[in-house]
Amino acid sequence: KGTITFTMIKPCAVKDNYIGDILSVIEKAGFKIIALKMLHLSEKKARLFYAEHQGKSFFNELVEFISSGPVVAAILEKENAVQDFRKLIGATDPKEAAEGTIRKMFAKDKGHNAIHGSDSDASAEREARFFFNELEVFL
Ligand code: CMP
Repeated sequence: KGTITFTMIKPCAVKDNYIGDILSVIEKAGFKIIALKMLHLSEKKARLFYAEHQGKSFFNELVEFISSGPVVAAILEKENAVQDFRKLIGATDPKEAAEGTIRKMFAKDKGHNAIHGSDSDASAEREARFFFNELEVFL
């Protein structure tokens, strides 16, 4: 039935009351939500989630932001899920994001860019397991 990707609606978009709008765009684009929850990451867990970015100039800022409030985490299923979802969310910097993409519509700036999407099948698997156990996933 296809492949999976992981997504997280970031604290800025949760604060701006965009959860419903963003999930609606995702479903209308043909993604099936197979796991979903709202939670608040500790700084320690945020550092683990973004471990691959450790050492980058924006790492501390990123960890502080992502642990600043609740996020909405989801696993999405679709054919070609990882690539199609990255296309749907648009460029990291909303200034460069194409018209109709989630970041173009709902993001403030590069750091507060509304939503995360896995960058590979391996990342999707790791990120999905980081947030959900098998009882919480509806394949
Ligand atoms: P995301 O796809 O969730 O994964 C890494 C995040 O780092 C990325 O989204 C951006 O929001 C963030 N990021 C990338 N570059 C910068 C930057 N220059 N300043 C702040 N945050 C950044």
